[in-house]
Amino acid sequence: MKIKQKKEITNSTVFYPYSEGESASKYMPKELLVKIEADKDYFSKKGQTKRYFINNKDYNIIHIGKIEKMTMEQIRQYCSLAFKIAKKEFFREFDLFIWQNILNISEESIIYSALEGIMLTDYQFDKLLSKNDKNFSIEKIDIIYEGNVDFDAIYKKIEIITDSIKLVRDLINYPANIATIDYIEDEAKKIAKKNNLEIRSFSEKDLIKDGFNLIYAVGKGGSEEPRLIEISYKAGEGCPNICLVGKGIIFDSGGLNLKPDSAMADMKEDMSGSAIVLGIIKIVSELKLKINLTVLMPLAENAIDGNSMRPSDVITAYNKKTVEILNTDAEGRLILADALSYSDTKNYDLVMDFATLTGAAVVALGTKITAAYFRGAKYKYPFIESSVAMSETVWELPLFEDYKEMMKSSVADIANLATPSRQAGSIMAALFLGEFIKNENWIHLDIAGTSFADKESGYNPKGGIGVMIRTTIDFLTKISN
Ligand code: BES
Ligand code: MG
Ligand code: ZN
Repeated sequence: MKIKQKKEITNSTVFYPYSEGESASKYMPKELLVKIEADKDYFSKKGQTKRYFINNKDYNIIHIGKIEKMTMEQIRQYCSLAFKIAKKEFFREFDLFIWQNILNISEESIIYSALEGIMLTDYQFDKLLSKNDKNFSIEKIDIIYEGNVDFDAIYKKIEIITDSIKLVRDLINYPANIATIDYIEDEAKKIAKKNNLEIRSFSEKDLIKDGFNLIYAVGKGGSEEPRLIEISYKAGEGCPNICLVGKGIIFDSGGLNLKPDSAMADMKEDMSGSAIVLGIIKIVSELKLKINLTVLMPLAENAIDGNSMRPSDVITAYNKKTVEILNTDAEGRLILADALSYSDTKNYDLVMDFATLTGAAVVALGTKITAAYFRGAKYKYPFIESSVAMSETVWELPLFEDYKEMMKSSVADIANLATPSRQAGSIMAALFLGEFIKNENWIHLDIAGTSFADKESGYNPKGGIGVMIRTTIDFLTKISN
């Protein structure tokens, strides 16, 4: 698929955005306006679409809201919907009209958002079908935009970002019998080799030797050996040093505290965090951002076996705290705890973690809002600002210290489950993690609700989304040198 910028409409198939008010309609040809005027009632609602054939032109109209209140997200959604309609109607090529002079949005952001909308929508997880009847694909999209932007530079950047997001989506969507620990490690090694990144893999032996006992304990019931992968990208001295940690449970059966059937169904998604941080370092190294970035991927399967950890087991963490396992299904916080403690051995300016951590986060915020926890003020608002710009909503929940006493254990320093266990579940998991990291700047994202969708929505597909990648890239770009 080729996407180019053009200043004038030449194709007979054209997409136009529609908006109430004068300012938008002046961009449309007269004969089209007359028709739309007659359908005014139909176009009273945002999201309405209609097709008109006039003088051998095929006009496709999408109502995208008031032009005065235009946001980057509306542009993304407009382009996403145009792409979907084009696919459904078998348009091999078409022109996609974009307004110039949209209030409050820079020319660059307009084109950036338009390309994001198209390229994020252009994804299908069809890798596991025996027959791919791909007899149709869109060949050419011309973006009709009168302004002057460095289109190719923007395109290249979006291509790097969206290619990586698609790789992350694939990794999440592959079930655990395919995206095994070995498979994910190979993928990480391939990326590291291609992009000249340092990579180190702690084998099961290394984990035991170095004291990553929580990662080992969670993974020892699985048929593959658990692992910790560390990948680093170095931009140079003086650049901010950032570490990202991603939960990598390739499948979460719950362990001996087995999940009931419906709760287990989508648990191949439980390695989303690891896939996401891998995708991020791929992008950061390809964009050559001026930051030093390390990602940590603790990988394990939470499985049932004679060797599985048990409720009541006590394990000594990497930071030497003893942990009583009260529920083997609260395994994410265990593998993250060791990885976070390990990050404390280096002097990172900021540590972030991404984890499909708690069902409670889904209960609290649903499937479109990520639960976010911030320790330290320095990076908080830049991060939230990026999430707003990228339309990946986060909502802060508190690291409420008083609740820590709920994790008291009668035999160890801390328990991995709070009592009572059904209160403030996402906060309790966050507080647990907080006991294993000393860094003053830490952002924890509980993406249990937002990582994996049971139906498509706009440019986000069904299944793995690659949530928070765009936000984090925007954020890291801002704080880079
Ligand atoms: N992987 C799950 C959390 C999860 C739930 C992710 C739904 C995505 C969708 C996590 O390991 C887990 O099982 N958490 C338990 C913790 C509980 C035992 C304290 C949960 O949320 O039920
Ligand atoms: Mg679990
Ligand atoms: Zn889990």
